[in-house]
Amino acid sequence: MRTWTLGDRVVNRMGFGAKRLGSDPDRATEVLRRAIELGVNHIDTASFYGAFDGAANEQIRRALSPYPPDLVIATKVGPSADGLARPDQLRGLVEDNLRQLGRDHLDLVYLRQHGLRSIAEHFGALAGLREAGLIQHLGLSNVRDVHLDEAAAIAPVVAVQNRYGIGFGRVNDDLVRTTGERGLAFVPFFAIAADAREDGGVAATEAVLAVARAHRVTPAHVRLAWTLHQGAHVLAIPGTGNPEHLAENIAAADLRLTDDDLSRLG
Ligand SMILES: NC(=O)c1ccc[n+]([C@@H]2O[C@H](COP(=O)([O-])OP(=O)(O)OC[C@H]3O[C@@H](n4cnc5c(N)ncnc54)[C@H](OP(=O)(O)O)[C@@H]3O)[C@@H](O)[C@H]2O)c1
Repeated sequence: MRTWTLGDRVVNRMGFGAKRLGSDPDRATEVLRRAIELGVNHIDTASFYGAFDGAANEQIRRALSPYPPDLVIATKVGPSADGLARPDQLRGLVEDNLRQLGRDHLDLVYLRQHGLRSIAEHFGALAGLREAGLIQHLGLSNVRDVHLDEAAAIAPVVAVQNRYGIGFGRVNDDLVRTTGERGLAFVPFFAIAADAREDGGVAATEAVLAVARAHRVTPAHVRLAWTLHQGAHVLAIPGTGNPEHLAENIAAADLRLTDDDLSRLG
C-alpha cells in the first residue's frame, strides 16, 4: 500500500522531514517544492528545528503557501528553550506553529515528551486545544506503550513518532506492532542516520551495503525501503536539504525487498 489514512487524511507513506532543510532559503524552497511535485503530501516539522525560532515552519510557509489541499503538515510541541514546556505553556507553542505556518488550525500535532512518567496533563492540554478546533489530530512522540494507553484514554491518537531503523531503536519493536494492531501510524525518525542521530549521514552496515549492491541502489534507499516494509502503517519521513537525495528517497518507495533481504537486514 502506498498510502495510509492519518485520522481522516490520506497521505503517501513516503513523506518528508523538515529538520534538515538547512539555512539556504532558495535551496530549502527548491527541496520543498520538488517534494510536492514528486508526490509528498505529509511533511513533518517543528518550530524548534534550528534555534527554537520557527525557521523550518516559516520556510515551509514561504515555499508552499497557499498549501495544496491534500497536504498534511505534522508538527510537534513540548521542547522549549528552557526544557520541556509545562502543560499550560502548550497553547502558546501551538499558536507559534499556527503563526509560523500561516494556518488557522494544525493538521497533526505530536506531544514530543521527554522524561515524563505520566503524560496525562500535557496530553490533556493538547486534547483541549483539539476540542477548541486549533488541532485536527493528535500524536505522541518519544513515548512508551504505557504512554499510548494513557493518552488513548483521554483523546484519540492517530500516530506515534519514535526513533527506529535497521539495527537501531529496536526497543520500539513492540510499539511498532501495537500501533499497527490499533490502526495507528508509526512514524520513525533517524531511519537513515540511525545511531549517528543529529550528526546525520547514512548508517551503512555490512548488510545494508550488501542489499544495496544486489539491487544496485544506495544504502539510504535500502534503509527507507526497509522502513516501509515494517507494516502498512509505517510512514517514512526522511530528512534532507539536498534535492538529489530527495528524489532518491522518494524513489525508495518502489524498491521491493525480498524475504532474504529482510532477514539479512534484521
Ligand atoms: N520526534 C523527534 O524527536 C524527532 C527527532 C529527530 C527527527 N525527527 C523528524 O524525523 C525526520 C527524519 O530525521 P532526520 O532528518 O534527523 O534523520 P534521517 O532522516 O535519518 O537522516 C537524515 C540524514 O541523512 C542524510 N540523507 C538523507 N537522504 C539521503 C540520501 N538519499 N543519501 C545520502 N544521505 C542522505 C541527510 O543529509 P543531506 O541533507 O545531505 O541529505 C541527513 O544527514 C526529521 O527531519 C524530523 O522531521 C523527529
